[in-house]
Amino acid sequence: MSKAIGIDLGTTYSCVGVWMNDQADIIPNELGKRITPSIVSFIDKTVAVGQQAKDSAFKNIKKTIYDSKRLIGRKYEEKEVQRDKKYLTYDIEKNNETEGVKIIISENKKEYYPEEISQAILSKMKKMSENYTNEEIKDAVITVPAYFNERQRQAIRDAAVAAGLNVLRIINEPTSAAVAFGLQKNNTLQDKNVLIFDLGGGTFDVSILNISNEGIIIIKAIDGDTHLGGEDFDNKLVQYCINEFQEEKGIDVSKNDRAKMRLKIACEKAKQDLSSMEETDIDLESLANGEDFEININRAKFNDLCNSLFTKCISCVKKALEKSKLKKEDIDDIVLVGGSTRIPKIQEKVKQFFNREKLIKNISIHPDEAVAIGATYIANVIKGNIKDESLILLDIVGQSIGIENNGKFEIILKHNLPIPISKEKEFSTTKDNQTSINFKIYQGENENVKDNVFLKEYSIDNIEKGKAGEMKFKVTFEMNVNSILNVKAINLKNNKDVQVNLKDKYSMKHEEKMKEMIKKEEERKKNEEKNEDSIKLKYELIYLCFQEKNQGNKKADILINKIKNEKSFNKEKYDKFFKELYGKK
Ligand SMILES: Nc1ncnc2c1ncn2[C@@H]1O[C@H](COP(=O)(O)OP(=O)(O)OP(=O)(O)O)[C@@H](O)[C@H]1O
Ligand SMILES: [Mg+2]
Repeated sequence: MSKAIGIDLGTTYSCVGVWMNDQADIIPNELGKRITPSIVSFIDKTVAVGQQAKDSAFKNIKKTIYDSKRLIGRKYEEKEVQRDKKYLTYDIEKNNETEGVKIIISENKKEYYPEEISQAILSKMKKMSENYTNEEIKDAVITVPAYFNERQRQAIRDAAVAAGLNVLRIINEPTSAAVAFGLQKNNTLQDKNVLIFDLGGGTFDVSILNISNEGIIIIKAIDGDTHLGGEDFDNKLVQYCINEFQEEKGIDVSKNDRAKMRLKIACEKAKQDLSSMEETDIDLESLANGEDFEININRAKFNDLCNSLFTKCISCVKKALEKSKLKKEDIDDIVLVGGSTRIPKIQEKVKQFFNREKLIKNISIHPDEAVAIGATYIANVIKGNIKDESLILLDIVGQSIGIENNGKFEIILKHNLPIPISKEKEFSTTKDNQTSINFKIYQGENENVKDNVFLKEYSIDNIEKGKAGEMKFKVTFEMNVNSILNVKAINLKNNKDVQVNLKDKYSMKHEEKMKEMIKKEEERKKNEEKNEDSIKLKYELIYLCFQEKNQGNKKADILINKIKNEKSFNKEKYDKFFKELYGKK
């Protein structure tokens, strides 16, 4: 049976696993690293993904795209997008057609959806696993933050489909980490409540679950913030450095993308150093106007800068506990995942809150790999590759789904209910001769509908004319195992299905957008192949030149340099140089 992969598509790093010899293998990238930067750069016609894109970031500031997971499935006007815009060193604009975000590569005026950046990363993960297994891989489970709303999930799903993947399931990152935790060999299954504290690069998730002695994982509550993680701590440090530089040298670098990119990379490193050292230096030669920037930062300063964000994490833990109806003391194990849980202050705050000496007993779980390991297991259970299924997963509705009712939020699918689930609601005409009924769907927990996230607008059209209230429809709201919503309706007069139409711009553009993305993926693949072919031709010719050079052909030396400097290579150029090399032979 063909293998299936599990992908943790992270804000800053992504990780992929495949099931082999009864365990999840994490797949190394071309550099042997087990996590790959979620960074994509566009240079000429080629698209670089991962470490290569990160390494060339300085040279391609405006063409290096990171943090796209913070933009995906969001509307441009959302405050989180506007906040990030200040720190991003590439350009984003409003996509008027979808109201979402578009990423602009200024050089060639190309525009990308955030989905396309995720697509390129997922495509790389697919390729890495194909190289590793020597098989074509199609099936995948992809993880998303538990607090991602339905629109964000749909966007990730689209990106995966466009990357040529068959999405077996979209699961929540902390749930996936819980599965990895349950799979630990030294972790004998016994009934316990576990809290997963997942603080990554871009998002924070907290999940409370119960693992029964039969191996059933029941998610009891989730909470989190899709805009809280390592990138925010980096941004706090960057802002601090910008202020210090302004104060010391009187130079404002807040609009200088090159300086900001250098600060961003230096601050991430400083932050990581501060997890193991008490203090560290940031030292950037000629940051702006020929002026150097040097600063010493200690742990206390860093903690101080980020304190409000650290406190926010604990508030989410409190909210999750309330939702789960458990007390602090009821939590048996606390599992830390995500790179940012290496920050000592975070660990201290969690220990303090729970009054514990230690967070997890005798069990080690890899904070960078746990999510991909759980996803790989679930992918292969679904695929039938794992016969003795020791763990079964029961997930829940993460955030309530409902409709607008006179400015208030009327909940239809309440948070914490187990999924898959469906609920029905009756709609009827309210005016004489009304021919359509509209309803707007929101997600969140606020009483006022406007404070929640707007998802979609639907309509039932071409309604037979009649008296107010005469025409009635039963609408079914169904949330599937991927936490994606389906809406259908029947006409109660004749019990026949009626079409429910999407009305808002964001959703309507969906099909078109998908077609465009799949087309671009094919073009990209063709370009990649062409590029590989041209490299092959170029190297073959250089090899021939070397052979000729060794046999005393004087032209060979000059030709080697000429060929080396050729940016794009093709068969015509090959033939031309070939003739030059061998004369009229
Ligand atoms: N030693 C360390 N100290 C502090 N932070 C660290 C350390 N090591 C890694 N990090 C941070 O962890 C973050 C990456 O963590 P991780 O790979 O779990 O996130 P992600 O999966 O990319 O993001 P998300 O899950 O939020 O989408 C980065 O911000 C990185 O700087
Ligand atoms: Mg993560």
